[in-house]
This record gives sequence, structure tokens and C-alpha cells, in this order.
Amino acid sequence: MSVILAIESSCDDTSAAVCVDGVVLSNVIANQTIHQAYGGVVPELASRVHQQNIVPAVQQALIKAKVSKNDVDAVAFTRGPGLLGSLLVGVSFAKSFALAKSLPIIEVNHMQAHILAHFIEDPKPSFPFLCLTVSGGHTQIVLVKDYFDMEVIGQTLDDAAGEAMDKTSKILGLPYPGGPLIDKYARQGNPDAYKFPEPQIPGLDFSFSGLKTSILYFIRDNVAANPNFIEENLADICASVEGRIASILLNKLEKAAKEYGIKDVALAGGVSANTGLRQGLLKLGEKNGWNCFIPQLQYCTDNAAMIAIAGYYKYLKGEFADQSIAPLARMPM
Ligand code: KG4
Ligand code: ZN
Repeated sequence: MSVILAIESSCDDTSAAVCVDGVVLSNVIANQTIHQAYGGVVPELASRVHQQNIVPAVQQALIKAKVSKNDVDAVAFTRGPGLLGSLLVGVSFAKSFALAKSLPIIEVNHMQAHILAHFIEDPKPSFPFLCLTVSGGHTQIVLVKDYFDMEVIGQTLDDAAGEAMDKTSKILGLPYPGGPLIDKYARQGNPDAYKFPEPQIPGLDFSFSGLKTSILYFIRDNVAANPNFIEENLADICASVEGRIASILLNKLEKAAKEYGIKDVALAGGVSANTGLRQGLLKLGEKNGWNCFIPQLQYCTDNAAMIAIAGYYKYLKGEFADQSIAPLARMPM
């Protein structure tokens, strides 16, 4: 039997989870609201709030899983990539807990964990599969050959898809994080109302900075002509932006699936919570005869359940880290 306690603290959510023999029994997420006042995550504030949240989050995760801290066999934690100060809180907690109980520790790559979230529940994709991993900091098409054998075959050259969502919402005067709000308003809008350009980037890479600029100019020019332009057309603007971001992502994913001859196709990361993107993938999957895999919403945005499942597969291989380990702001797959 294996009881894994997992910690995730890479950005602005403090999360703890417990996984017993590969089954996730709890996934506690403490969101940080303090950043809303600043229009984006303030790293120093994020690490301070992680310090306040981490002990209660772990306690709740253990209680919900009906597991005593004495039953834990190993502690998994996000080593990177992420905000260094935020990661440091999770890494230090994991190391101290393990040291006090003489337990092994397991380092987890946050981007690999987003993909391994597909192994929390059935149905699970079979190897090799393609995963479009879209978060606040990353946009990648990953060829997943095995649990820890992953190759990035396409990625953004500038902004991430989540960043494009968040920056658009900022331009529209909406609070941070904007992705979920764009999703909410887009449901009432027409995605064909406004045409934003699709960047012409060769191969499987992405670019979102040109789109961001075109949205900025589009809003600026229309607001100059009509000061109420945003309020009067919010749903159509959100639907059109969301539609374009989704089509940029899905067109490249379709290209990758054809090039690599792969039929198992998955979505991961915070932006995979987006309704338009989820629906778009299913439609594309139907057209191409793919098996599509989309995680439950709670496993799309940052969570410790994905760290726990990644930790479980490393535990089975006996891959443990040394107590001297430090977090990494940048960490390749
Ligand atoms: O994976 P994640 O939780 O954190 C990072 O690792 O970055 O992703 C956060 C990103 C943010 O940009 C947020 O706006 C976006 O995911 N997001 C969404 C939705 N939910 C979260 N974007 C669009 N629609 C959503 N429903
Ligand atoms: Zn993430």
C-alpha cells in the first residue's frame, strides 16, 4: 500500500492532496484572492499567502482522505516551473514534513503533472498520445510517449494562451484572472461577431502577442468612437476572442495529430477549463475520429491531485529526491 501526500504551490493556489494506491482521496485548493486588487499575481504576496495556507490545506487534505499523518509513505511536491518564492514554500514544507517522519520525497515537474492529471480518473489515454497543455505561463503540444517520457513538439514563441486571455480581460477592464470571466461572457456572445487575425507561424509553434496587440487596437479604436462599446458588446467581444484563441490552438493540434499519426488527443492546464476550447476539441475529434480526453474542471487548473498521481508513478519506480533539492523557476520537461 502507498499513501502519498502531495503539495502544489507553483503560482497563486495552495493545494494539498492525498492519493492511496493511485486513487486520489482528497484535493484541497486554497485560492488567493489578494491579487485581484493588483490585476495580476504579485509574487511576494503569493509566497506569504502560501505560508498562511499550507498547514491548513495539508490538514484538510488528510482529514478528507481519512488518513493520519503517521500513515503517509512519501511526500510529493512541485519543484518547478513556477514562481521561485511560491515554490520555495511548498518545497520547504514537503522536505520538513518528510524529515520529521523519516519519509522519502518525490519531486514533480508541474507541466508533466498537468498532463498526468489524465491518469487520475478513467478513461485514460494510451501511449503515445498528444496533449495540448495550455496554462497561464505555457502553451505546448506534447508528444507523451510514457508517464515521464514527454517531448514538446510545439510551443509558444511569446505569450501563453492563458496570458492572452488574462491580458484581453485586463484591456476590457475585467478583474484578474480573466480567463474564467471571458469564458462566462462568451457563452452569451457570437464568436463570429468580430474577426481577429490568425498568426501565420510555421510548424507547430504558436504566437499570441500579435493577437493581443490587435485586440488592444480594436478596443481602443471602437471605444474612441463609442465610449460604451465594451459594455454594449462584451459578450460578442469575449466570444470572438475566445473563438480565435481556441482556433489557433486547435488548428496546430490538428496539424500535429496528422503529422504524427496519433488518434489519442488530450487537453491539459488551466485554459483547458475553457468551455469553447473543450467543445472545439470534441468537434474536431469527431471530424478526425480521435479519442479525446479532457480532465474534470478541478484537475485542469492548478491542483495537488495531479502532483499526487505523478508522485505515485515515481513512487512505483522508487524515484526519490535528496533532501538537498531546491525549487526551479524554469524546469524543462
Ligand atoms: O494551469 P493554471 O491554473 O496555472 C498555471 O500553471 O499557469 O492556468 C491558469 C490560466 C490563467 O491564465 C487563467 O485565466 C486560465 O488558466 N483559465 C481559463 C479558464 N480557467 C482558467 N482560461 C479560459 N477559460 C477558463 N474557463
Ligand atoms: Zn499550472
